[in-house]
Amino acid sequence: MADRDVYHRNPLGTQPLYSHWPYNSTRKRAPTQPLIVQPHTLSETTGPTFAPELVTPRAADLTRQRSGEPLGERMILEGRVMDDGGRPLRRTLVEVWQANAAGRYLHDKDNHDAPLDPNFIGCGQTLTDDDGRYRFVTIRPGAYPWRNHYNAWRPSHIHFSLFGPAFLTRLVTQMYFPGDPLLSLDPIFNCVSDEHARDRLIAELDLSVSKPEWALGYRFDIVLRGRNGTPMENLAHGG
Ligand SMILES: [Fe+2]
Repeated sequence: MADRDVYHRNPLGTQPLYSHWPYNSTRKRAPTQPLIVQPHTLSETTGPTFAPELVTPRAADLTRQRSGEPLGERMILEGRVMDDGGRPLRRTLVEVWQANAAGRYLHDKDNHDAPLDPNFIGCGQTLTDDDGRYRFVTIRPGAYPWRNHYNAWRPSHIHFSLFGPAFLTRLVTQMYFPGDPLLSLDPIFNCVSDEHARDRLIAELDLSVSKPEWALGYRFDIVLRGRNGTPMENLAHGG
Protein backbone atom coordinates (compact mmCIF):
# COMPACT_ATOMS: atom_id res chain seq x y z
CA MET A 1 0.00 0.00 0.00
CA ALA A 2 1.15 3.51 -0.78
CA ASP A 3 1.08 4.79 2.78
CA ARG A 4 3.17 2.00 4.14
CA ASP A 5 6.34 4.03 4.31
CA VAL A 6 4.92 7.17 5.91
CA TYR A 7 5.82 6.21 9.47
CA HIS A 8 9.41 7.26 9.83
CA ARG A 9 11.57 6.62 12.84
CA ASN A 10 11.67 9.40 15.43
CA PRO A 11 14.84 11.54 15.61
CA LEU A 12 17.45 10.48 18.14
CA GLY A 13 16.95 11.84 21.64
CA THR A 14 13.30 12.73 21.18
CA GLN A 15 12.01 9.48 22.63
CA PRO A 16 12.80 7.97 26.03
CA LEU A 17 15.76 5.65 26.32
CA TYR A 18 14.90 2.04 27.04
CA SER A 19 17.42 2.17 29.83
CA HIS A 20 17.59 5.30 31.96
CA TRP A 21 19.62 4.55 35.07
CA PRO A 22 17.81 6.91 37.49
CA TYR A 23 14.51 5.21 36.58
CA ASN A 24 14.92 1.87 38.35
CA SER A 25 12.43 -0.23 36.40
CA THR A 26 14.23 0.42 33.15
CA ARG A 27 17.33 -1.37 34.44
CA LYS A 28 15.38 -4.61 34.62
CA ARG A 29 13.20 -4.22 31.56
CA ALA A 30 15.34 -2.61 28.91
CA PRO A 31 16.31 -4.90 26.01
CA THR A 32 19.91 -6.08 26.25
CA GLN A 33 20.12 -7.03 22.57
CA PRO A 34 19.73 -4.75 19.54
CA LEU A 35 16.14 -4.52 18.35
CA ILE A 36 15.14 -6.43 15.23
CA VAL A 37 13.68 -4.15 12.57
CA GLN A 38 10.53 -5.64 11.07
CA PRO A 39 8.99 -4.38 7.81
CA HIS A 40 5.63 -2.68 8.22
CA THR A 41 2.66 -4.74 7.14
CA LEU A 42 -0.98 -3.92 6.55
CA SER A 43 -1.96 -4.88 10.08
CA GLU A 44 0.29 -2.16 11.49
CA THR A 45 -0.36 0.58 8.96
CA THR A 46 -4.15 0.44 8.89
CA GLY A 47 -6.66 0.74 11.71
CA PRO A 48 -7.93 0.49 14.26
CA THR A 49 -10.99 2.69 13.81
CA PHE A 50 -13.51 3.59 16.47
CA ALA A 51 -17.22 4.21 16.00
CA PRO A 52 -18.47 7.50 17.52
CA GLU A 53 -21.25 5.70 19.38
CA LEU A 54 -18.61 3.93 21.47
CA VAL A 55 -17.88 7.18 23.31
CA THR A 56 -20.47 9.08 25.33
CA PRO A 57 -20.19 12.83 26.06
CA ARG A 58 -20.12 12.06 29.78
CA ALA A 59 -16.92 10.08 29.31
CA ALA A 60 -15.08 13.32 28.52
CA ASP A 61 -16.22 15.06 31.72
CA LEU A 62 -14.47 13.44 34.65
CA THR A 63 -16.28 15.76 37.08
CA ARG A 64 -19.70 14.32 36.24
CA GLN A 65 -19.25 10.59 36.34
CA ARG A 66 -20.64 10.18 39.86
CA SER A 67 -23.49 11.72 41.84
CA GLY A 68 -21.46 14.69 43.07
CA GLU A 69 -18.51 16.76 41.97
CA PRO A 70 -14.99 15.65 42.84
CA LEU A 71 -12.85 17.75 45.17
CA GLY A 72 -9.95 19.70 43.75
CA GLU A 73 -9.10 22.37 41.24
CA ARG A 74 -11.43 22.01 38.26
CA MET A 75 -9.72 22.34 34.89
CA ILE A 76 -10.50 22.23 31.20
CA LEU A 77 -8.04 20.42 28.96
CA GLU A 78 -8.09 20.96 25.23
CA GLY A 79 -5.79 20.18 22.37
CA ARG A 80 -5.36 19.00 18.82
CA VAL A 81 -4.04 15.70 17.61
CA MET A 82 -1.96 16.00 14.46
CA ASP A 83 0.29 13.97 12.23
CA ASP A 84 3.89 14.90 11.45
CA GLY A 85 2.73 17.32 8.74
CA GLY A 86 0.41 19.23 11.08
CA ARG A 87 -2.69 17.68 9.57
CA PRO A 88 -5.53 17.03 12.02
CA LEU A 89 -6.25 13.44 12.93
CA ARG A 90 -9.99 12.88 13.01
CA ARG A 91 -11.90 10.31 15.04
CA THR A 92 -8.85 9.42 17.03
CA LEU A 93 -9.62 7.78 20.33
CA VAL A 94 -8.07 9.80 23.16
CA GLU A 95 -8.12 8.19 26.59
CA VAL A 96 -6.87 9.70 29.85
CA TRP A 97 -6.35 8.41 33.37
CA GLN A 98 -5.05 10.21 36.42
CA ALA A 99 -4.81 10.46 40.18
CA ASN A 100 -7.34 12.52 42.13
CA ALA A 101 -6.56 15.89 43.69
CA ALA A 102 -4.94 14.18 46.68
CA GLY A 103 -2.60 12.17 44.46
CA ARG A 104 -4.42 8.83 44.76
CA TYR A 105 -5.57 6.49 42.00
CA LEU A 106 -8.72 4.43 42.20
CA HIS A 107 -6.71 1.26 41.76
CA ASP A 108 -6.04 -1.83 43.88
CA LYS A 109 -2.29 -1.41 43.62
CA ASP A 110 -2.27 2.20 44.81
CA ASN A 111 -1.57 2.13 48.55
CA HIS A 112 -0.58 5.78 48.92
CA ASP A 113 -1.93 7.05 52.24
CA ALA A 114 -4.14 9.74 50.69
CA PRO A 115 -7.95 9.81 50.48
CA LEU A 116 -9.95 8.39 47.60
CA ASP A 117 -12.68 10.65 46.27
CA PRO A 118 -16.06 8.90 45.92
CA ASN A 119 -16.90 11.31 43.12
CA PHE A 120 -13.82 10.74 41.03
CA ILE A 121 -12.96 7.69 38.94
CA GLY A 122 -10.05 9.30 37.13
CA CYS A 123 -10.67 7.87 33.63
CA GLY A 124 -12.03 9.57 30.53
CA GLN A 125 -12.23 9.08 26.80
CA THR A 126 -13.31 10.99 23.72
CA LEU A 127 -12.87 11.05 19.95
CA THR A 128 -11.24 13.97 18.14
CA ASP A 129 -13.51 16.08 15.92
CA ASP A 130 -13.02 17.08 12.27
CA ASP A 131 -10.19 19.47 13.25
CA GLY A 132 -8.47 16.86 15.38
CA ARG A 133 -9.61 18.58 18.57
CA TYR A 134 -10.38 16.94 21.89
CA ARG A 135 -11.66 18.40 25.16
CA PHE A 136 -11.86 17.07 28.70
CA VAL A 137 -13.13 18.56 31.94
CA THR A 138 -11.40 17.18 34.98
CA ILE A 139 -9.64 18.20 38.20
CA ARG A 140 -5.95 18.86 38.49
CA PRO A 141 -4.24 15.69 39.77
CA GLY A 142 -2.04 15.83 42.85
CA ALA A 143 1.60 14.77 43.11
CA TYR A 144 2.15 11.35 44.66
CA PRO A 145 5.06 9.40 46.14
CA TRP A 146 6.58 6.36 44.47
CA ARG A 147 9.38 4.05 45.48
CA ASN A 148 11.89 4.64 42.73
CA HIS A 149 14.31 6.19 45.22
CA TYR A 150 14.24 7.80 48.66
CA ASN A 151 11.62 10.57 48.91
CA ALA A 152 10.59 10.22 45.27
CA TRP A 153 7.48 12.11 44.13
CA ARG A 154 5.87 12.14 40.71
CA PRO A 155 4.98 15.59 39.39
CA SER A 156 1.28 16.13 38.66
CA HIS A 157 0.52 14.38 35.41
CA ILE A 158 -2.26 12.96 33.26
CA HIS A 159 -1.73 9.72 31.35
CA PHE A 160 -2.77 9.68 27.70
CA SER A 161 -3.38 6.90 25.22
CA LEU A 162 -4.04 7.63 21.53
CA PHE A 163 -4.40 5.26 18.63
CA GLY A 164 -4.10 7.55 15.62
CA PRO A 165 -4.83 6.09 12.19
CA ALA A 166 -2.68 2.98 12.67
CA PHE A 167 -1.12 0.84 15.35
CA LEU A 168 2.22 2.40 14.45
CA THR A 169 0.88 5.74 15.60
CA ARG A 170 -0.26 4.41 18.97
CA LEU A 171 0.99 6.78 21.61
CA VAL A 172 0.99 6.29 25.36
CA THR A 173 2.39 9.24 27.20
CA GLN A 174 2.03 11.60 30.14
CA MET A 175 1.13 15.26 30.19
CA TYR A 176 2.68 17.57 32.76
CA PHE A 177 1.91 21.04 34.12
CA PRO A 178 3.95 24.20 33.49
CA GLY A 179 6.20 25.43 36.27
CA ASP A 180 6.07 22.24 38.33
CA PRO A 181 9.23 22.14 40.50
CA LEU A 182 9.10 18.34 40.58
CA LEU A 183 9.74 18.05 36.84
CA SER A 184 13.51 18.45 37.07
CA LEU A 185 13.61 15.70 39.72
CA ASP A 186 11.43 13.19 37.88
CA PRO A 187 13.28 10.25 36.28
CA ILE A 188 10.35 9.41 33.99
CA PHE A 189 10.07 12.93 32.56
CA ASN A 190 13.85 13.02 32.17
CA CYS A 191 14.03 9.74 30.23
CA VAL A 192 13.74 11.97 27.18
CA SER A 193 17.17 13.50 26.65
CA ASP A 194 16.15 16.21 24.18
CA GLU A 195 14.95 19.28 26.10
CA HIS A 196 12.66 20.52 23.33
CA ALA A 197 11.05 17.11 23.06
CA ARG A 198 10.57 17.03 26.85
CA ASP A 199 8.90 20.43 26.69
CA ARG A 200 6.33 18.97 24.30
CA LEU A 201 5.06 16.95 27.25
CA ILE A 202 4.12 20.09 29.22
CA ALA A 203 0.68 21.58 28.77
CA GLU A 204 0.30 25.32 28.35
CA LEU A 205 -1.92 27.47 30.54
CA ASP A 206 -4.35 29.02 28.05
CA LEU A 207 -6.84 31.65 29.19
CA SER A 208 -8.77 31.24 25.95
CA VAL A 209 -9.54 27.69 27.10
CA SER A 210 -10.35 28.83 30.66
CA LYS A 211 -13.92 29.54 31.66
CA PRO A 212 -14.10 32.71 33.80
CA GLU A 213 -15.12 32.12 37.41
CA TRP A 214 -15.33 28.39 36.77
CA ALA A 215 -12.12 26.66 35.68
CA LEU A 216 -8.60 27.25 34.40
CA GLY A 217 -7.84 25.94 30.93
CA TYR A 218 -4.81 24.11 29.62
CA ARG A 219 -3.80 23.30 26.07
CA PHE A 220 -1.94 20.14 25.16
CA ASP A 221 -1.39 19.51 21.46
CA ILE A 222 -0.16 16.09 20.44
CA VAL A 223 1.81 15.07 17.35
CA LEU A 224 1.87 11.38 16.57
CA ARG A 225 5.37 10.43 15.46
CA GLY A 226 7.93 12.33 13.42
CA ARG A 227 10.23 15.30 13.88
CA ASN A 228 7.89 17.16 16.23
CA GLY A 229 6.39 14.05 17.72
CA THR A 230 5.16 13.99 21.29
CA PRO A 231 7.50 11.68 23.24
CA MET A 232 6.14 8.38 24.39
CA GLU A 233 6.51 7.27 27.93
CA ASN A 234 9.16 4.67 28.49
CA LEU A 235 8.09 1.07 27.90
CA ALA A 236 9.13 0.29 31.43
CA HIS A 237 6.77 2.83 32.94
CA GLY A 238 5.82 2.26 36.53
CA GLY A 239 4.58 5.61 37.82
FE1 LIG B 1 0.71 8.16 37.11
